Amino acid sequence: MLETRPELQNLSDYVPGKSIEEVKTKYNLSNVIKLASNENPLGPSPKAQAAYLAVSSKLHLYPRGDAPDLIQAIAQKHSVSKHQIILGNGSDEVIDMVGKAFIRPEDECLSLEPTFSVYRFVALSFGAKYITVPALEEDSPLEALLKKVSSKTRVIFICNPNNPTGSYFSQRELLDFIKQIPPSVLIFVDEAYAEYAQALDYPHLTPYIQEYPNLVISRTFSKIYALAGLRVGYAISSPQVIAGFWKVKPPFDINIAAQASALAAISDTEHVQKSIDLNNKGLVFVTQKIKALGFQVLSSQANFLCVRIGSDASNLVNYLESQGVIVRGLSSFGMPEWIRVTIGTPEENDFFIKQFYQWNTNARN
Ligand SMILES: Cc1ncc(COP(=O)(O)O)c(C=O)c1O
Repeated sequence: MLETRPELQNLSDYVPGKSIEEVKTKYNLSNVIKLASNENPLGPSPKAQAAYLAVSSKLHLYPRGDAPDLIQAIAQKHSVSKHQIILGNGSDEVIDMVGKAFIRPEDECLSLEPTFSVYRFVALSFGAKYITVPALEEDSPLEALLKKVSSKTRVIFICNPNNPTGSYFSQRELLDFIKQIPPSVLIFVDEAYAEYAQALDYPHLTPYIQEYPNLVISRTFSKIYALAGLRVGYAISSPQVIAGFWKVKPPFDINIAAQASALAAISDTEHVQKSIDLNNKGLVFVTQKIKALGFQVLSSQANFLCVRIGSDASNLVNYLESQGVIVRGLSSFGMPEWIRVTIGTPEENDFFIKQFYQWNTNARN
């Protein structure tokens, strides 16, 4: 029997949100809305769609591995040099590059819990130990995390705003933390939802990369830019760290359509603003409606809300699915009493709330 590397043997597969097609088939429904994977309900910018179509006659050509136009546009957006940017096939691949370039079997990787599961997967798959602090039980999660730093610590993953809670660390909190971390430890701040954050003290960390060359900030085109299906993410760091990522990056991982569409999307600031406005209104509406029923809703800086349902959370998830609404149960995040719901269009939010109320009145176990 051919066996995988031992590090992989106890790893479970990533659990994605259910697809619309799966739920349509299962319940014989013609309309299903997905509020489970934090996608942008507006869809891609019309400019990104036009750019996508425009490259269709060039698909016989390999993409440029160095993606100069897209890298230049991202560098400009963040006021950094092009040597400070690496692209990935989604930010998932950027996280994987952290593993390939930096994580050794004897290392320890740290993070908070609950959080995005890919950090754990990457740490363990490269043979490292993955150590977490239960953030919801701590008054000061970063202080608790700091106590776990040892001579073996190699990478610290911080998701900001955090998936699935939507909570965030301020500029001051993060900088206080970062300055106490040895320069040999890579600090990975995952900002997949940064563009949605409205808090005035939400961090702007790029100016600090010069002082802390071990700081890596990751972003994605999958959320506010609405290109999850094309797979483009990126990291911003010091030229030294980025040079390490280039050594492990697959050469043609950002395809032609992805490069062209992402370039168009980044220039469509109007679409981004529209997406932010829609999300802000949706967050207020959904929060108010759910709180009115007496449920706990965590305050969110992202495009989703985390709601405490109690022991019948999976009953709610199943009920909503049967009515054509996919939300995320959070058992795989270690929060079996909670659900995470993505903010949709006003019509989608209305429909979700209607079904939620119906469950609460009639269908609850
Ligand atoms: C916090 C966080 N980081 C990274 C990702 C991965 O995004 P992508 O690989 O699509 O860029 C996700 C996806 O849901 C996420 O929630």
